[in-house]
Amino acid sequence: MTRVFSGIKPTGHLTLGNYLGAMRRWAEVDQHGADALFCVVDLHALTVDHDPARVRRLSRQAATLLLAAGLDPQLCTVFVQSHVDEHARLSYVLECVATDGEMRRMIQYKEKAARERARGRSVRLSLLTYPVLMAADILAYRTDEVPVGDDQTQHVELARDLAVRFNQRYGQTFVVPRAARPQVAARVMNLQEPASKMGKSDDSGPGIVYLLDEPDTVRKKVMRAVTDSGRDVVYDREGRPGVANLLEILAACTGGDPRALGEAYASYGALKKDTAEAVVEVLRPVQARHKDLCADPSYVEDVLRRGADRARAMARPTVDAAYRAIGLLPAGAEAVVNAAR
Ligand code: TYM
Repeated sequence: MTRVFSGIKPTGHLTLGNYLGAMRRWAEVDQHGADALFCVVDLHALTVDHDPARVRRLSRQAATLLLAAGLDPQLCTVFVQSHVDEHARLSYVLECVATDGEMRRMIQYKEKAARERARGRSVRLSLLTYPVLMAADILAYRTDEVPVGDDQTQHVELARDLAVRFNQRYGQTFVVPRAARPQVAARVMNLQEPASKMGKSDDSGPGIVYLLDEPDTVRKKVMRAVTDSGRDVVYDREGRPGVANLLEILAACTGGDPRALGEAYASYGALKKDTAEAVVEVLRPVQARHKDLCADPSYVEDVLRRGADRARAMARPTVDAAYRAIGLLPAGAEAVVNAAR
C-alpha cells in the first residue's frame, strides 16, 4: 500500500490555501487510498521569531482543524511532530548528508531570511536547516507520496536528493518519495496581492481567508479582492493574476475548470459573488465540526496520543537502520548481536 505523509506548520491560523492546496485532498483522497500520516509540524514553527504560548495554541488548533476537515483517526494517523523523537533524531543524520550550498539555494529560506532581516531580527540557524528536518519527517516513514501545494515542491525534491544520496553512500535505507500536487489551487494567491501566495504567517489579513473566518468576513474579503485592469473575465495566470486566482478558488470549491468558468462570467462582480458563496459553503461543515471538537478537547488529545504511538512505532526501525548504516555504534543488546558480525 502506498505510504503518504504530509504536514502543516502551526505558525498562524490555517487558511483557504492550506485547505484547497493540501488538507482537502488528504481527507477526500489520501486517507482512503493509502496508509497515510498527517502531522502538525510544531518543531518547524520554532524556526522564526515565536511566542511559546501561541505555538502551543496554534498546534492544538491545527490538529483540531485537521480532524474538522475530515481526517478520520480510524483511517489515518494524526499526530504532533515533537511527540515523536525520531524526526529530530533523523534530521541530524541527514544534516551530515546535505550540504550548506543546497540549503542556501532554497527559495523559502531566501525569502524568509530576507523578511526576518527586514524586521531587524536575526535569522535562526534552524531556518536554514528546516528543509533537512522536513526531509527527515518524510523519510522516517518510508513515504512514497507527499501531497503538498506548489510552494513545497523544492523541499520535497531535496528529500528525494537526500534519500538517493544516503542510499548510494551507505546502502539502501530510504524510499525515494515523490510530491503530489492538486490539479487546481496548487497555489492560492493573496486576494490583495495576487502576485504573492496566500500564506498563514503573512501580515496582510484582508487578503487571506482563514478557515475559521465568519461567513460575512469571507464575503467581505472576496468581494474586495484586487482584480485586474481589464473588464472581461478570462483565465490568464500571467496577465490577469487576480481574476485567475478567483477562478481557481471557485473551480476548486465547485469542482469546475477555471478556464471554462471564466467563459461563463460577464463581470467581475458576479464572479466575486459566486466565489464568496462557494467558499462560505466549503468552509461551513469544517467550521461546524471544529465547533463540536472544541467542546471535547480530551478527544483531540486522545487522537494525538494514539497517533504519536503509532507514528513512533513506524519511524523507529527506519531511523535505527539509518543510524547503523551511517556508522553509529548500536547500543545495548543490539550491540552484542552486532559485535559478532
Ligand atoms: P505549510 O504549513 O506552509 O502548509 C501546509 C500545506 O498547505 C499548502 N499551502 C498551500 N497550497 C496552496 N496555496 C497556498 N496558498 C498554500 N499555502 C500553503 C502547502 O503547500 C502545504 O502542503 N514545510 C511545510 C510543512 C512540512 C511538511 C513536512 C509538508 C514540514 N514537514 C513533510 C510535507 C511533508 C510547510 O511549511 O507547510
